[in-house]
Amino acid sequence: MFKTGIIGLGTVSKTHRNALAQVENTALVAACDVKPEKGKTLPEGVHFYLDYEDMLENEDLDAVHICLPHYLHYEAALACAKHGVNVLCEKPSTMNSKQLAMMKKLEQDYDFKLAICLQNRFNPTFLKLQESIQSGIYGKLLGIKAVAIWSRTQSYYDEAPWRGLMAQAGGGCMINQAIHTLDQMQLLGGTIQSVKGQICNLSDMNIEVEDTAAAHITFENGVEGTFFGTITYTKNSSIELQAVCEKGIFTIKDYSLWYADKEEENEKTLLIKDRRLPGSKTYYGSSHVELIRDFYNRLDGKEGSWVTISEEGQVILLIEAIRRSSQEGRTLLWKEAVQHE
Ligand SMILES: NC(=O)c1ccc[n+]([C@@H]2O[C@H](COP(=O)([O-])OP(=O)(O)OC[C@H]3O[C@@H](n4cnc5c(N)ncnc54)[C@H](O)[C@@H]3O)[C@@H](O)[C@H]2O)c1
Repeated sequence: MFKTGIIGLGTVSKTHRNALAQVENTALVAACDVKPEKGKTLPEGVHFYLDYEDMLENEDLDAVHICLPHYLHYEAALACAKHGVNVLCEKPSTMNSKQLAMMKKLEQDYDFKLAICLQNRFNPTFLKLQESIQSGIYGKLLGIKAVAIWSRTQSYYDEAPWRGLMAQAGGGCMINQAIHTLDQMQLLGGTIQSVKGQICNLSDMNIEVEDTAAAHITFENGVEGTFFGTITYTKNSSIELQAVCEKGIFTIKDYSLWYADKEEENEKTLLIKDRRLPGSKTYYGSSHVELIRDFYNRLDGKEGSWVTISEEGQVILLIEAIRRSSQEGRTLLWKEAVQHE
């Protein structure tokens, strides 16, 4: 039984608590938040702390889930590393390439394991899409379309002001909402060659971070990617991820994967659907349970996979490249984006 703690008892922590309850070899023994009232939401027997240093000092934890605002991830991961406590950190573990290098160094300097919560990599629809493309049966991959159109209103930023601040969130719709979609895009496409992006604010919300972003991404193998993300819609509509291969078209939409022959685009076949995770928002993606189960199985020396900081680093660099391309008004070569790596 792994003794587990959570740091940060805000919105996403509920998803972690629900998922942990379904992962048999874990027990939530402690949790921490700076707001005392959050302690009242915990089940009896779970120790509550206001300071995570106290929690790490007093509890003999095997792993901690970091569910904090972005700008606090590194300091909390450092504290866990110093105590030799393994970490599952919510995305984005870092806000930019500078912090990414610092986070990577933690892994070298301390004896602990660090995994990142990019749960949509574990969605059955995405795994089936990856497998189909890699099979080669459908010919070469030619293009990827990724569309993430969600809704965030001023109240979302007012209830947790860090979300709208550049220094505390590291960005808006890209790093906070569409990170999973951009991550899936770069996983499908492979090594990036160039990035041209535009970010802007289409709404009049009082936030520093972008609410809208678009990008054209080319990959070394000739694949082209088109991305659009915004949080200015009235609804969290389902993510659309489309992969066009020489012989067929795969589309993830409405939490389902569809296949269409190149010649018969309107004749779609349903290949697989994603699960629902009760107690979690559907549009988050349903795979926190799978990701968390794999994390603990792997800690246990059993079969399981996790997303490493280096793997997550690719999407952090991609987001930074889109921002920089937009600011400089030019196409950015990938070698420029990774030059400080
Ligand atoms: N994987 C996903 O699909 C998904 C979905 C939503 C959010 N997230 C991520 O989860 C993280 C948290 O987001 P959220 O929306 O739940 O944030 P939130 O603002 O709702 O919650 C953060 C919590 O941390 C607490 N906190 C702040 N400073 C603290 C400190 N020093 N020590 C202990 N607690 C402290 C706050 O009081 C708050 O309760 C972010 O990284 C976000 O991007 C991931």
